[in-house]
Amino acid sequence: MHRLAVLASGHGSNLHALLAAGLPVTCVVSDRKSAGALDRARDAGIPALFVDPDGCNRATYGLRLQACLAANDVDRILLAGFMRVLDSAFVQRWHGRMLNIHPSLLPKYRGLHTHRRVLEAGDTEHGASVHFVNDELDGGPLVLQVVVPVRPGDDEQILQQRVQEAEHRVYPVVGGWLAAGRLGLGDNGVLLDGRVLAQPFRVTPETDLSCLAA
Ligand code: GRF
Repeated sequence: MHRLAVLASGHGSNLHALLAAGLPVTCVVSDRKSAGALDRARDAGIPALFVDPDGCNRATYGLRLQACLAANDVDRILLAGFMRVLDSAFVQRWHGRMLNIHPSLLPKYRGLHTHRRVLEAGDTEHGASVHFVNDELDGGPLVLQVVVPVRPGDDEQILQQRVQEAEHRVYPVVGGWLAAGRLGLGDNGVLLDGRVLAQPFRVTPETDLSCLAA
């Protein structure tokens, strides 16, 4: 099993799901001292590491992060609500070894306020995407998307909750593939168990995910 770091700036509900699923999380790293994710890590007895962005530009912050990860022998990264754009050198170093979960059906709605934008557009479906991280914001190769309905009367908060519940079902599974060394990036795209994924998995929260990969 690879040694995972989870990078998170917020509440850490995805971190909670990853820990509950037994993923080998070696440390949790945040750019916010008061992040709920750090409290969850401490509660779980996992190193909770604040990497201070104070006085850093994007590149020097990448170096600070890298030093922290190296000191903890991390070799795979899961971003879970990490709200800082990572610099190019850092992204390159972790090419094929770092996943993110984004609350939209990419390539729709990159960036922030996805739930609001989905409601404003009148979409009937929404969801979350797990993807490898590259230099394009929320633009890296997709591994899996989980789709949820948008129901009449939904507001931003209800929709966010529905999407997050779906995230908590899928991220531990895909993160588990990464941790187990089954998931990576090759010249022709995403590799799962050595085979190129022709297209990202598209599931619902009800899908039996154990059927996706043997
Ligand atoms: C999630 O909705 C994730 O998609 C986005 O940030 C949110 C993090 O929430 N990238 P939490 O901190 O895991 O509760």
